[in-house]
Amino acid sequence: MRVLVTGGTGFLGSSLVERLLELGDEVVVLDNFWRGDPENLNHIKDEITLLEGDASQATAYQAIKDASSIDIVYHLAAINGTKWFHEEARMVMDVNLNSTLRAIEFAEKYQCRLVFTSSPEAYGNSEVMPLGGPESSVFTHPSHHQRHAYGGSKYLGELAVHHAVRQGLDARIVRPFNGYGPRLSHDEYGQVVTMMMRSALDSSIVQVHGDGMQTRSLTWVEDIIEGIVLSGRLDSCLKTGESLSGCSFNLGSTEEISMLELGEKICQIVHEKTNRVAKIEFREGYPGDSQRRLPRIVDAEESLGWAATTSLEVGLRQTLDSML
Ligand SMILES: NC(=O)c1ccc[n+]([C@@H]2O[C@H](COP(=O)([O-])OP(=O)(O)OC[C@H]3O[C@@H](n4cnc5c(N)ncnc54)[C@H](O)[C@@H]3O)[C@@H](O)[C@H]2O)c1
Repeated sequence: MRVLVTGGTGFLGSSLVERLLELGDEVVVLDNFWRGDPENLNHIKDEITLLEGDASQATAYQAIKDASSIDIVYHLAAINGTKWFHEEARMVMDVNLNSTLRAIEFAEKYQCRLVFTSSPEAYGNSEVMPLGGPESSVFTHPSHHQRHAYGGSKYLGELAVHHAVRQGLDARIVRPFNGYGPRLSHDEYGQVVTMMMRSALDSSIVQVHGDGMQTRSLTWVEDIIEGIVLSGRLDSCLKTGESLSGCSFNLGSTEEISMLELGEKICQIVHEKTNRVAKIEFREGYPGDSQRRLPRIVDAEESLGWAATTSLEVGLRQTLDSML
C-alpha cells in the first residue's frame, strides 16, 4: 500500500510512519516541521519520501509524485499543545481546519481512504462520562476562554469529514486520548507526562495545575498507533461487516489517573531511576481545562478489535527511560 502521512515527523506521526513501514507500506510524509522534527525519522530517512510543506495549502500536495497511487491518507498535521490554544487561537483554528479541508480535498481528488486524527476535545467541555454518544458534545460560550480554538477546529474537521463521507469519500475518524511515550514534546508548549518528567529531572519540581484532582486517561503511544493503523487498513467492521466509512473511534485507555497522582508517581520513578528528589508545586491551570476525559471505547473494541493494553506503570517507566 502507498500512504500519505501529514504531520509525520511529530510525536504520533513518526511512530505511525515506523509502524507503516514495518507493515510494508510505501510512505510519503508531508510536514512543515512546525513542531515535528525530521530527526525523528532520521533512522528511516532512506525508506520514506519526506516532503517539507504546509498541509493547509493545496500547493503543498502538488509535490507528491504519482499522487493517484496513494491508497490512504493519515491526516495528523495540526497545532497541538494547550499553551498555543490560548496564545495563538486563530493560528490553531486556521492550520487545523484548513489542513483538514485540504487533506479531504486531496483524498477526494485521488480517491484515497482518509483517516482524520481528531481529538476528545472535539466533544468540548462535556461532563458526561465516558465520552462517546451524541450527548457528549458540549461547548461553552466562546467569550469564556480560547481553549476551544483547538477542540472547535477538531469538531469542524469532523463535520467536514462527515460531509465528505456523504459525498462518497471513504473516511474514518480517530480520537487519541492523551497519548504519551518517547518523543512527546516536553517544552512549555508540550504535554503533561513529559513536561512533568523533564522538570523533575532538570529542576526537581513537578507542576500540578489547580488542585490536581482532574483526571486523564493516558494512553501509550503504540496502543494509539495500533488503533490508527487498524482504522486505516480494515475495510469493514469486525462485528457487523459493514463499511467503516463515517465511523469514529475513541482511542484511549480506560485507566484513569488524577494529575496529582501522576505528579507523585513521576516523582517516585524519577527518584528510583536517578536518586533525584522532586517535589510537587501547585500552580493555576489553564481556563477551560476539563476535569475528566474518559473514553467510551466500545466502538473501537467491536469494530476494530482494539483496546489499549499497556499499563501506565509500564508506559511511564519506558517514557522516562527515553528521556534519560
Ligand atoms: N498526542 C495526543 O495525545 C493527541 C490527542 C488527540 C489528538 N491528537 C492529534 O493527533 C495529531 C498528532 O498529534 P501529535 O501529538 O503527534 O502532535 P505533534 O505536534 O507532535 O505533531 C503534529 C505534526 O504536525 C505538523 N504540522 C503542524 N502544522 C503543520 C502544517 N501547517 N503543515 C504540515 N505539518 C504541520 C507538526 O510539525 C508536527 O510534526 C494531531 O492532529 C493532534 O491534534 C493527538
